[in-house]
Amino acid sequence: MVRMIFRSAVLVLVLFSMTTVSYGKDFKYVGVKKCKTCHKSKKIGNQYKIWSEAKHANALKSLSSPKALEYAKKNGIADPSKDAKCLNCHATYATIDHKLLDPKTKMTVDEGVSCESCHGPGSAYKKKSIMKDHKKSLANGLNMPDEKTCVQCHNKKNPFFKPFDFKKMVAKISHPVPGKK
Ligand code: HEC
Ligand code: HEC
Ligand code: HEC
Ligand code: HEC
Repeated sequence: MVRMIFRSAVLVLVLFSMTTVSYGKDFKYVGVKKCKTCHKSKKIGNQYKIWSEAKHANALKSLSSPKALEYAKKNGIADPSKDAKCLNCHATYATIDHKLLDPKTKMTVDEGVSCESCHGPGSAYKKKSIMKDHKKSLANGLNMPDEKTCVQCHNKKNPFFKPFDFKKMVAKISHPVPGKK
């Protein structure tokens, strides 16, 4: 009995330490399709398109690449695209506490690393009147990512780690609102 309690405590600890991204309790993850409804126009800078054509959006696919499969074989992982050891950084859906999923979300692992891994769960800030107001957005769960956000995943626990240069890497994923700042 004591051992069982101990074991579940360890399991809880493991699950907690696997959750790489955590924000305020009241905010729920809504999934990239929600962000897309407003962030796909040219006028706003089509952040959706920029993201969807780049590596983060395709991070789940990399877990089935020859490189991933070779690594998995050597390390006794049956299927990296289904294993928490890999999904943990390659898919937002797998990194978050599922209690924080909006009941209506259509988020799946296929989203890869999506907006909310960097910008925080969007249930409250996604309203247009709030989004237009920087301070209100921040108060409603919006995260403007800094290096700390990135190194939750860009760290040595990644078997293919490359030294992380924040400035260079931010430039690579740049998706500005035209004419802002
Ligand atoms: C109802 C439309 C709408 C939805 C849905 C929406 N946004 Fe926005 N978002 C906006 C508008 C409008 C702006 C302001 C753009 C500007 O500065 O002109 C904005 C701004 C932002 C900014 C910059 C905020 C700042 O203060 O600098 C981020 C980051 C952002 N959105 C992320 C997201 C994410 C992530 C989602 C999905 C969870 C999302 N948005 C959903 C309309 C929306
Ligand atoms: C939830 C985990 C996660 C977070 C948070 C994250 N990344 Fe990534 N990032 C990844 C994964 C996984 C890949 C590899 C995708 C692939 O190739 O399959 C990646 C790839 C990239 C790449 C492409 C690599 C290259 O050499 O072209 C860039 C650039 C990048 N990330 C920048 C950033 C920046 C900047 C931040 C913070 C603002 C960040 N990432 C936050 C998981 C994350
Ligand atoms: C700690 C977070 C993390 C974990 C855990 C993780 N990855 Fe990654 N992975 C990343 C990041 C970040 C990148 C992008 C690195 C870069 O380009 O700087 C990446 C890139 C990759 C790439 C592309 C590498 C390349 O050079 O083309 C493959 C393949 C990959 N990971 C497979 C895996 C597999 C398989 C696992 C599980 C055994 C795994 N990853 C676990 C974060 C992680
Ligand atoms: C890997 C992390 C990452 C992902 C994924 C990501 N963003 Fe961002 N986003 C950033 C960073 C970093 C900035 C720049 C923050 C700053 O300027 O302080 C930013 C800025 C923005 C801005 C403000 C641009 C401006 O000019 O002020 C908007 C809007 C935005 N993101 C929307 C999105 C949407 C929508 C998605 C998903 C389709 C998304 N982002 C996915 C990291 C990310």
